Amino acid sequence: MSEYPKVEIREGLVSVIVPDLSKYIVGNRPEPAHAPVFYNPRMEVNRSLSTAIINGYIGYMNKAGITICEPLSGTGVRAVRYAREVNGVSRVIANDISERAYELIRLNVDKNGLNDVVSVYRDDANNLLLRLAREGGCDVVDIDPFGSPQPFIENSLRAVRDQGLLCVTATDVGVLSGKYPIKCVRRYGALPQKFPFRFEVGIRILISMIARYALSMDYGIQPLVSFLDGHYYRVCVLILKDRAYALETLRNLGYAYYRLSTLQRGFIPGYPIPTNTRYRLAGPLWIGNLWDAEFLMNHFMSNVKDYFSDRAREISKLIVEEALGPNIPYALTTEISRDLGRELPINDVIGVIRGLGYQAVRSHFHIKGFRTNADLLRVREVIIGK
Ligand SMILES: C[S@@+](CC[C@H](N)C(=O)[O-])C[C@H]1O[C@@H](n2cnc3c(N)ncnc32)[C@H](O)[C@@H]1O
Repeated sequence: MSEYPKVEIREGLVSVIVPDLSKYIVGNRPEPAHAPVFYNPRMEVNRSLSTAIINGYIGYMNKAGITICEPLSGTGVRAVRYAREVNGVSRVIANDISERAYELIRLNVDKNGLNDVVSVYRDDANNLLLRLAREGGCDVVDIDPFGSPQPFIENSLRAVRDQGLLCVTATDVGVLSGKYPIKCVRRYGALPQKFPFRFEVGIRILISMIARYALSMDYGIQPLVSFLDGHYYRVCVLILKDRAYALETLRNLGYAYYRLSTLQRGFIPGYPIPTNTRYRLAGPLWIGNLWDAEFLMNHFMSNVKDYFSDRAREISKLIVEEALGPNIPYALTTEISRDLGRELPINDVIGVIRGLGYQAVRSHFHIKGFRTNADLLRVREVIIGK
């Protein structure tokens, strides 16, 4: 076993050994990427919500005895949590290319008495995924890399079974949300824009990248859950290996537009060519729903546990509420407070809009974000006139 400072931590229902991050400080903060094996305690939110999503998926699809593959496991904390916390899991495949990570995963699997559930490999993720595809595939593939998931999507789609679940993390939020547009074009084949709802543009570009790989294989996708949490996006989509679903997925690709003068925003269908090019556009991107509201309400929420962190439970509540709002990009209170000389609290704005008889819900993408089907110029007039 490689020698470096380690500590034991508790997360969810497991205890695992991880690198002692207090020994890897950059600036005045621990830097997980500098440790011999990657471990980020802030990703507890991602891991906890993912156990709830996979448990919900099992109920939603009426499955039993599922297999989960995590090809980029790091310390193995996620794989070990899945083995312990997902009901009816029969096998978890944990893998990492790094020798030190492989050793640590094996230690953590053993420490939790899970040797008969978790198989541990040391391989390149793409090799592993191709091998699993040849051997019949998995029900759930979870891609949780450092940076972009793009290099692993094509083989994940091969390895996931029909009606399986593909969960993807992307930590390159800056690229996807318009900070480095040309990098986004190169990496994701889509142009982002710094629209007020640019964080939504980013997650929709991420989903569209998965959708376009799926289309090339005649598969369709259906997002169950999508969220942004600080430095990363997370999306979990059903993979439907049927041409009819591929054609439906094609209809959910298009572009997002925004007009500063009227505050209008929305989606324009059409892939690869938008059906209308009057506005400044971002895309191509996913224009369908970001959430399956029925899944969230009836299958996900009941699997959000008291032992999850406050942040994990907070995001759960926010996305369930947001999923019931209209599929129109979120707006910011600052957009309608312009010229007013004061900033309006989000709950006041939502109250005004609901008073006018329109839908309005908070958006988890931004502290000042809300989703509405109201005309925002009219809302601004009403607020200014108050
Ligand atoms: C962000 S960490 C994984 C964190 C882990 N999923 C968790 O929840 O804590 C990414 C891991 O991918 C591994 N990795 C990078 N490239 C890889 C590749 N091509 N094949 C397999 N593992 C790889 C790295 O060694 C690193 O441990």
